[in-house]
Amino acid sequence: MGLLLLLTSTLLSSYFHPGIMVDAQRIFTIRDITLSIEPSTDVVRGTNVTVRCKAIVSSFGQEVLSREYTIYKGNNKVYTKNSSTSEDLLYPLPDARVSNTGKYHCRINIKGEEMNSRVEKLTVTGLSKPVLHLDKDVFSEGEEIMATCTAPGETGSIFFYLHEGNNVLREGLVNTNHFETKFRFSRVGIHGIHCKYTVITMPDSFMSNESNILSVSVEELSIKPVLEIFPQTKIYEGDPLNILCTIRNLARPDNIHLYLSQGIKLLSSGNTKVNHSIVALASEPGDFECRLEMGNVAKVAAKTVLVTELFSVPTLTMSPAEVFQKERMTLTCKSEIASERLNRGELIYTLEPDSPLTPLAPGVFSGKALLYDFNYTCVAKAKGIVKRSETLTVCPKISVSTPKISVEGKAVLGQPFKIRCQSDVGSLPINYTLLKGYDQLGTISVRLPQPALFTVTITKPEEIKEYMCEAKNNHKNAPLSQRLNATVIEPLMGLTLTVTPHLPEISEGDHLYLICGTKGTPPVTFKWYRVGKEQPLHTTTSEKNNTDYQVPNLSKAHSGTYYCEAVNHANNIVRSEEVTIEVRLALWKKAVIGGVCLLVVSVLVVGSVLYFRSKRVRVVRAAVSVWSERPPEAANDEESSVVSSEPDVEYTEVVHPQPAGTARVPLRKGTDTVYSELKNPPHGAGDHHDYGSVVYAELNGKQPEIGHHPPEVRNHLPVPVD
Ligand SMILES: *[C@@H]1O[C@H](CO)[C@@H](O)[C@H](O)[C@H]1NC(C)=O
Ligand SMILES: *[C@@H]1O[C@H](CO)[C@@H](O)[C@H](O)[C@H]1NC(C)=O
Ligand SMILES: *[C@@H]1O[C@H](CO)[C@@H](O)[C@H](O)[C@H]1NC(C)=O
Ligand SMILES: *[C@@H]1O[C@H](CO)[C@@H](O)[C@H](O)[C@H]1NC(C)=O
Ligand SMILES: *[C@@H]1O[C@H](CO)[C@@H](O)[C@H](O)[C@H]1NC(C)=O
Ligand SMILES: *[C@@H]1O[C@H](CO)[C@@H](O)[C@H](O)[C@H]1NC(C)=O
Ligand SMILES: *[C@@H]1O[C@H](CO)[C@@H](O)[C@H](O)[C@H]1NC(C)=O
Ligand SMILES: *[C@@H]1O[C@H](CO)[C@@H](O)[C@H](O)[C@H]1NC(C)=O
Ligand SMILES: *[C@@H]1O[C@H](CO)[C@@H](O)[C@H](O)[C@H]1NC(C)=O
Repeated sequence: MGLLLLLTSTLLSSYFHPGIMVDAQRIFTIRDITLSIEPSTDVVRGTNVTVRCKAIVSSFGQEVLSREYTIYKGNNKVYTKNSSTSEDLLYPLPDARVSNTGKYHCRINIKGEEMNSRVEKLTVTGLSKPVLHLDKDVFSEGEEIMATCTAPGETGSIFFYLHEGNNVLREGLVNTNHFETKFRFSRVGIHGIHCKYTVITMPDSFMSNESNILSVSVEELSIKPVLEIFPQTKIYEGDPLNILCTIRNLARPDNIHLYLSQGIKLLSSGNTKVNHSIVALASEPGDFECRLEMGNVAKVAAKTVLVTELFSVPTLTMSPAEVFQKERMTLTCKSEIASERLNRGELIYTLEPDSPLTPLAPGVFSGKALLYDFNYTCVAKAKGIVKRSETLTVCPKISVSTPKISVEGKAVLGQPFKIRCQSDVGSLPINYTLLKGYDQLGTISVRLPQPALFTVTITKPEEIKEYMCEAKNNHKNAPLSQRLNATVIEPLMGLTLTVTPHLPEISEGDHLYLICGTKGTPPVTFKWYRVGKEQPLHTTTSEKNNTDYQVPNLSKAHSGTYYCEAVNHANNIVRSEEVTIEVRLALWKKAVIGGVCLLVVSVLVVGSVLYFRSKRVRVVRAAVSVWSERPPEAANDEESSVVSSEPDVEYTEVVHPQPAGTARVPLRKGTDTVYSELKNPPHGAGDHHDYGSVVYAELNGKQPEIGHHPPEVRNHLPVPVD
């Protein structure tokens, strides 16, 4: 760095003063600076220590360079000197003390150029023993003591402590080597005190040994407060009390004060005597204190007075312990009395606030409970003393109202369900009992405003009416609910699928009715299925427990197997047996075939007649029943068409209560007769309203026309008979 400076100085000089010779004397360089402590960095107290600062500076020529040296202790400048020679700078620390302990370094400054030395730490050990001094050694109570603690020969910041044993009496920081303080002893007797100090050298501090121990004798003053209370024994509430606070051994009556207090309450004060009167009360503390203050001395005389109660704080009780609205109740107020001083008759009881209860005897009040909560307080009075009981809150209870019984959710035969019982009003807890007939099934004690829920199962629908419930919240009455009135859902049982027309006689063009019937409680949801198809053909919900589904205008494609399913609110699904339906050839096709056959037969008959006539054989009229000659598959078709062989042969009977064009539904299977309500098609509505009428029909030759009946012809639900 020095070299660089030299070069720079040279260049700058030549640049700014090109015509002048370079000033060789001004060119210098600080090469090094060191600080050393002599004789050593660790010395004992009293050593003559020297801090030496040595700088090596190179320069041209003879011009004297002014060197400014600064010595630092920590961050503080402790010494500065200007020197014009190259001699070392010496900073003497004669007779070193602990306060000289610290980290030192020095700095040199020549014409603004600076260099710092490294830091050296000086440690001085050894402290003088402190000396304690008191102005006297015998003091009287409350007298102030002056103490001085000295640290001989020490310098710097010193923190002094004044101790009695381990307790610090006083302490303080000073910049001298002695510490003066004043204090008092509050306790009479002999006290041993000593002092010590600490020299503070940031960041360290050094603690001295303890000083000599001095004995201080504190002598008690003979002056004393005296407390007298009259009467001295057996004090009852209401008695007057005289309290006297005086001084004994009073030497000089100046600067003295007396204070009389009861508990924390100051009753009175005075200079030499306090005379105070009060009425004794059991409720107030019986601690009295007479306090004498003289300068800094305070003396106390105390007494505790026991005040006997004339009568105790009354207690207010209610009977019965629980009362219902408007029921009779009795409040009793009672105090214990000190019989030697008070007659029972002198004690007057009243209720607060005023209430409609009437007094029956001293302290006994009776009447009807109100409809709402009420706070009662009892007041007892005698000889000017008033005492109040704690507040008694009477909360009249409300009798339970007639409970209501209902079914929670739905009642399904054979399945558990819940019966709900609840009263609209009534104080809790309420006990609800479920009855079936005269039997008690169970009791639920309800503590929150909520219904009681009982779980039951019934096997017959009539059973539900036997349930009743009872609510009870007092021991007098237990209102009974009405009988349970609810619908019982009977699960579905058995499902039959009936088909009309009857099975073997279903032909093309017929309307097919798939009638599902079950036992159980409606509404029932029915579903019709065809085997092989997952989706139901039809779904309907009915308020009856049977219903039908119509497949109009049958074709061969409707042949198949059908079944139905039903479900109601009991949620059990029932399924019918499967019924296989085969749709036969249309009747008119059969008729055509039949006609052809008839024609053939007729031809044969005519041929035969002609033949027999030609042979003179008499022939009488004949009738032929076609079906006897029909193909075998129609042989069992009992109610199939009957066709006359000749126009004059009439043994076909047709009952037609409605004009042609209305529906006709059939009819007979074994001994059962199924018949339907029929509805006229809209265009025929004005003519006939034969709802519920019965149609028996036998088919005749015109039957094929039935296939053209309009599809809107529709059954009401078939009603089974027999
Ligand atoms: C310290 O120096 C003083 C004079 O400056 C001298 O009187 C004293 O004896 C010296 N102390 C020691 C321990 O050398
Ligand atoms: C040393 O000299 C500088 C100027 O060179 C001056 O400012 C300073 O006061 C002087 N210090 C002493 C201690 O004489
Ligand atoms: C305290 O006193 C003892 C002996 O009396 C001495 O050895 C020790 O150095 C003293 N300590 C200090 C801090 O002065
Ligand atoms: C204190 O005062 C009461 C009246 O208040 C009086 O009867 C009593 O004699 C007085 N006592 C003294 C010691 O003065
Ligand atoms: C009765 O006293 C209680 C407090 O002790 C209070 O909260 C309540 O409101 C009072 N009731 C009536 C009816 O005054
Ligand atoms: C209610 O029932 C409980 C026991 O379950 C019984 O202790 C209480 O006395 C009953 N309460 C009434 C008013 O009957
Ligand atoms: C049962 O309840 C129904 C309505 O839910 C009502 O019409 C009927 O009169 C009630 N029966 C009785 C006996 O209360
Ligand atoms: C439903 O079936 C029950 C038998 O479980 C029967 O008593 C009742 O009459 C039927 N209801 C209807 C609407 O058909
Ligand atoms: C009955 O079905 C046949 C064909 O299968 C059709 O020609 C006729 O129009 C249908 N009749 C009715 C009333 O739907």
